[in-house]
Amino acid sequence: MSSARAGRRRAIRSLLLLLASLALGSCQPEGRKAESLHFLIGFSQANLSEPWRIAMTEEIRSEAARYSDMRIIYTDAADSTGRQIEDVNRLMHYGIDLLIISPTDSRALTPIVREVYSQIPVIVLDRAVEGYDYSLFIGPDNERLGREAGGVIAELLGDRPGRVLEIQGRSGSPPALSRSQGLREVLSKHPNIKIADVIVADWLRDTAEDKVAAQVRVLPRIDAIFAQNDAMAFGAWRATSTAGRRGIRFIGIDGLPGPTGGIELVRKGVLSATFTCPTGGKESVAYARDILQHKEGIPKKIFLRPSKVTPDLLLQIRSAESISREFRAAPGRPIVLGFAQVGSESEWRVANTKSIKTAAAKVGIELLFEDGKQHQENQIAAIRSFIRRKVDVIAFSPVVESGWDEVLKEAKAAGIPVILSDRAVDLKDDSLWLSFIGSDFIEEGRRAARWLVENSKASGPVNIVELQGTIGSAPAIDRTIGFEEVIKDYPNYRIIDSESGDFFRDQGYEVMKKILLRETKKIDALYAHNDDMAIGAIQAMEEAGLKPGKDIIVVSIDAAHGAFKAMIEGKLSCTVECNPLLGPQLMKAVKDYMSGKDLPIRMITSEEVFPASTAKLKLAGREY
Ligand code: AHR
Repeated sequence: MSSARAGRRRAIRSLLLLLASLALGSCQPEGRKAESLHFLIGFSQANLSEPWRIAMTEEIRSEAARYSDMRIIYTDAADSTGRQIEDVNRLMHYGIDLLIISPTDSRALTPIVREVYSQIPVIVLDRAVEGYDYSLFIGPDNERLGREAGGVIAELLGDRPGRVLEIQGRSGSPPALSRSQGLREVLSKHPNIKIADVIVADWLRDTAEDKVAAQVRVLPRIDAIFAQNDAMAFGAWRATSTAGRRGIRFIGIDGLPGPTGGIELVRKGVLSATFTCPTGGKESVAYARDILQHKEGIPKKIFLRPSKVTPDLLLQIRSAESISREFRAAPGRPIVLGFAQVGSESEWRVANTKSIKTAAAKVGIELLFEDGKQHQENQIAAIRSFIRRKVDVIAFSPVVESGWDEVLKEAKAAGIPVILSDRAVDLKDDSLWLSFIGSDFIEEGRRAARWLVENSKASGPVNIVELQGTIGSAPAIDRTIGFEEVIKDYPNYRIIDSESGDFFRDQGYEVMKKILLRETKKIDALYAHNDDMAIGAIQAMEEAGLKPGKDIIVVSIDAAHGAFKAMIEGKLSCTVECNPLLGPQLMKAVKDYMSGKDLPIRMITSEEVFPASTAKLKLAGREY
């Protein structure tokens, strides 16, 4: 930035802070000093015509009002991408310290968000931009919302043949696509239910009402209408009621409070169900402060938990709230966290254990740590012992995805919340766990494949050997899915052999040795689900007279020290980061929960890709 521009920014910023401090000074409680005002935040909102976005802006306003040391400048892009780019430029001109943006259009806003992120932190709200050039994304899990809506429709319609009208938000927008995908995923398992028609109504009540009114005469029987937000569901209800169509069940999303919000529509019987779709406004202010204060434990992506709202649940809600308040009361002694670890199979796991123990000690959380030694039964026994010892919170890294129903039901019955650390579970009932903190393993698999495709640039066949992690574990399942998703578009890239090395170095060695003996085709690349197995396989290749990294491209996941060493020696081609330093995030989540805050359903850590060419430079700054 030119010095003239920097000077102008400073002047505008001082003026704004002065105005803000004067305004605050007149109405501030005793002790909240205007001179302590030092965070200037810009909030660029996509529009203020949708009730959900109005609620988001209000949430930001009321959360920010709690702090005397920050001021937020608000802009409304009125749903115009061009205007939103101008808004962001104007906010930057004012000298903001951090930008919060809820984009109108993910793709179109990506370049400006990237540019701003090269200068100040950026929090992206609701609709993600492309890539990872921002500090933090906060949003709802849209696919899950669609799946949950599909589940409700299936329950409401039962076994009888059912016809569903789907009303979508803005065409092609990521939430509209993901909600629709989630709905279809569930309904595809119910062949008696068909999506009879789709209407696009841009998230607006009146558009939905007009379009449904025009369509309702020609549409034969409809049993349920799923609208991707409550406003459109209400519009559809008005249109069908006017047309005298009865017996249709309406399902929406947003679950806003207030006289015209979705919760009231459920209470009045207009909607059979809605789902709260937290706006993230409150969280964005809290995280903005944490980022600006350089706090530890900031994730890269946060997905907020939706809740189903039905007439029955509304009747129960009072008691549910009081139970959780009672449970979360501060214990008046150190918080006790029970942690059941997978084992110590890899450099990654050792670093993960160290991070958890160090972070607990740092914040004064009493940690009961059990090592599962790679066996699910040991982890289940550990969780049962935590329940008996009445810990405040249980966290664990499940060795495999399935088989946790019983023990997690026991934890729920005992009123102890469970946080999944590093690995996910595959359970029907996701109320059995509170939050997940870890990596996006599918994305790691994609990154490994993308790197391989971009850096081998081969037109002839590329034969790949895959060394999988523990069979049935989340990282092994997802890293295969992500890798295959990318290479399916390149028919010359083929996995010719795939076997598990259980994430252990010695098993990576043994398995690769066997593969090298039995494989008759030329092996061009090795894709190992972790660095340890890759390092074991490198030894097997060398013993077989091959030059790993040259004769065979080697790509692995974790980015632990051993991988950097192997890259510097020219034996490993690339490692994709999987961050084991989850301790600070986990302890923050435990403390937040115990202080009465709601936790996101998923918190995804920040990660990079390290090709061998960067190894020397990057190794020095790495903690594990
Ligand atoms: O769950 C994370 C995986 O488990 C790591 O990638 C692997 O090294 C570990 O053992």
